[in-house]
Order: sequence, then C-alpha cells, then structure tokens
Amino acid sequence: MQAKQRMLTGITTSGTPHLGNYLGALKPAVAASQQVDTDSFYFLADYHALIKCQDPQTVHRSGREIAAIWLALGLDTDKATFYRQSDIPEIPQLAWFLTCVTAKGMMNRAHAYKASVDENQRQSSVDLDQGISMGLYSYPILMAADILMFNAHQIPVGKDQIQHIEMCRDIAMRFNHTYGEHFVLPEALVDEGDAKVLSGLDGRKMSKSYGNIIPLFAPADELKKLIFQITTNSLQPGEVKDPDTCTLFEIYSAFASHEETLAIRKAYANGIGWGDMKGQLFEYLNDYLTPARKRYDEIITDPAYIESELQKGAAKARAHSEPFMQRLRSAVGIMSLVGDLGAKQSGAKAKKELTKEEQAKVDAGKAKGIAIAKQRAEQESQQLAFEVDDLINTINTSSDPKAAGEEILAGLRTQIDGAKKKAKKTLQQTLELLEQRLTS
Ligand code: TRP
Repeated sequence: MQAKQRMLTGITTSGTPHLGNYLGALKPAVAASQQVDTDSFYFLADYHALIKCQDPQTVHRSGREIAAIWLALGLDTDKATFYRQSDIPEIPQLAWFLTCVTAKGMMNRAHAYKASVDENQRQSSVDLDQGISMGLYSYPILMAADILMFNAHQIPVGKDQIQHIEMCRDIAMRFNHTYGEHFVLPEALVDEGDAKVLSGLDGRKMSKSYGNIIPLFAPADELKKLIFQITTNSLQPGEVKDPDTCTLFEIYSAFASHEETLAIRKAYANGIGWGDMKGQLFEYLNDYLTPARKRYDEIITDPAYIESELQKGAAKARAHSEPFMQRLRSAVGIMSLVGDLGAKQSGAKAKKELTKEEQAKVDAGKAKGIAIAKQRAEQESQQLAFEVDDLINTINTSSDPKAAGEEILAGLRTQIDGAKKKAKKTLQQTLELLEQRLTS
C-alpha cells in the first residue's frame, strides 16, 4: 500500500455556491474524503475572499453559508480536516516566506493579473495597473502557501486554476533549492472533459459573473422560478426536440441515473413540451436536493455548531502547521536568540549589591543559558516532529498500515510505562503527536 495521498482544496467565501459548483467540486470532494487512501484538507478561503469582495457582511455571511453547505452535504469532519484559512496563522506567515523567493517576472504572467491589465488596455486606461490590488497580484502566492503548508499532493481545481498550481510548484522548487527539501510538489487534479461544466439559465456556463446561476440550496419556490426561466427554443409541444443542445436536459442528466436520462431522451423524441419538461426537471431536482437542503436549513441557523466544527478542524490543521512552521522558520534562519527574557526579568529580584560589570556578566550568562535552553527546546520539538514523520512513513508504507499504526502506538505505551521522568515525557509527547496525526 502507498503512503496516504493528501488532497487539498479551498473555496473562496465570496459568493453562493450553485449547482455547477456542486457537481464540479463539492460532490466529488465529499466523495473523495471517504476514500481510505486519502487524507483530505478542505478549507474556506476567506483571506482570498478579501481580494474579490470588500463588503464585510458578504464575506462573513458567505463563510457561514459555505461551511453549512459542506456540513449539510455530509462531509465527515472526523475524517477530513475542514477548517477556515484565517484560523491558521501559519498560512500568511508562510505566504511571506514564499513571497521572498517568488520571481516577480512569473507573477507578471499570472492569468488573473494579465486579464485585468488587458482589460485596462482595452479601455485605454493611462495606468495599466488601475484597480489592481497587491492582493490580486499576489494571490497565487497565498494559494501556494495554502497548499504547501500541508504538503498536499493533489489539488482538485477547475481548469482556470491550473496555472496557479504550476506557479505553486515553481515557488516550492525555489524554496527547496534555497533552504533544503521541505515541500512536496503538488499536482492539479482536473476533471477530464467538459461534461461537468454546467450551463446556466441563459445557456452560457453557469457562473456568478454571468448572473445565471441556480443556487444549490435555493428554497423550492425559488428553484421552480429559476428553472422556468431557463432559455429554450420556440419549438411547440409535439415537435421533436434535440436533448443535446438543451440546457434543461443537460442539467437533468447531470443529476439523473443513466436509465432516467434515457427515458427523458425518449420524451424529447416524442415532442415533450417545454413547460412539461421544466416541471419534470423541477420535481427531479427538488426531490434530489430536499434532504440536504433540510439539513442545510437546520445548520445555517446554528452558527455555534458550525463554529465548533471549524474550531475542531483548525486544531487538527494546526497540529501540523505549527511544528512545520517552526521547522521552516529555522530553515530560513528566523529563531529566538535569547528566549523569553522579558517575562523572566520581570519576576527577578533586583541585585543592587552587584557592580555594573558583575551584573553584565550575570546577565550575559543568564541570556546564554536561556538561549541554549530555548534552542534545545526548539531542536527537541523539531526532532519530535521528524520522528513522528518517520513513524507515519513507516506506518503508511507498511503492508498493513492500520495494524502497523496500532502496533507502534502500543509499543510507545509500553515504553512510557517503563520509562523514567524525562524520557517518559518525550515518549508521551511522541505518542500524543502520533495519535493526532494518525487520526487527522
Ligand atoms: N483560488 C481558488 C479559487 O478561486 C480557491 C483557493 C484558494 C484554492 N486557495 C486554494 C484552491 C488552494 C485550491 C488550493 O477557486
């Protein structure tokens, strides 16, 4: 058996997910999180939302809605790590480290940035960077930090995001080259074919920017209204219709089984009327969505529950991001020189009887001691993280990872029972970290 693959993806919290998002991203992600050989990391990209949306209420509401949607769709938050980007302070810290190794020339070629420049050019703006924030410009670096922070292997994304994953690989390689091998190079996992790109009300791709979406959990009456707005041609009931150029059929078949789809195909050949077909599509979708929508309606009115789920996810995510960031900080040369001197000094008694020189010597000695202790603590915590990494590797690459994991945990527990104070503490920490990692 292969080591577990880490799958990671984020959803920007600046809008309302629609049927297209459900089929293209949400549904496959929830399904993937059930696979035993995958560790999934799914998060609300609320820092990314600030790039597109500067209305605080929308950002806040969208975060809550999107979290509720994931939970209503049955994401198993014990298995998957489900968190909010802004609850992981190490992500923006890493983004800065990455910013410092990223070539500006590469950023100039980012599609999202270039599209805005092109638009300014089209409008003959004097300033080609008009209206472009540094957030938009640097957005691929923040995205790289999201991915590299958890050393994810596979990133399920839409086609428009492929370039960002390539940039992430480039940035990871530069960092590795400069500071040693710290990052895995991720790969984009793109849905093959266009089958899953759903059309919207007007027949163009369903997208918020076209204003043609059907929200995933629109109430039944709104869902009905929207379905009846879908554009069709002027063929009359009784006339033969082509299902393959019809948005109604496309949406229906994206949700229905093969047999159900065949039956509707026949109905088109038999000249089903548009009103009739719209009614059938509504009934079908409404039945399909109602159970999850009911859960959604319950969850969305329980922000405390949503928050507790997100905090649980944040704790799981930080169990990884904190030690990893510690390691990265040391790698770039950022670590404490003297430890937490300020706190220690405030408690110390003033020693008036010492001369200035004596005091200086004492202080220097103390500082050195603290620095050594601090450094040792840092090394120990790093060592611990490495050791657990190794154990995890052993477990994952063994023929029966579950049994291997249990065996190692049991071994640790026996050792702890027999060990002396200091060793006991270290073993205890190893056990705890390993347990955390194995269940996350
Ligand atoms: N940029 C992605 C989008 O707009 C969202 C996102 C942010 C993301 N960080 C990510 C996706 C990391 C995958 C991995 O769709």
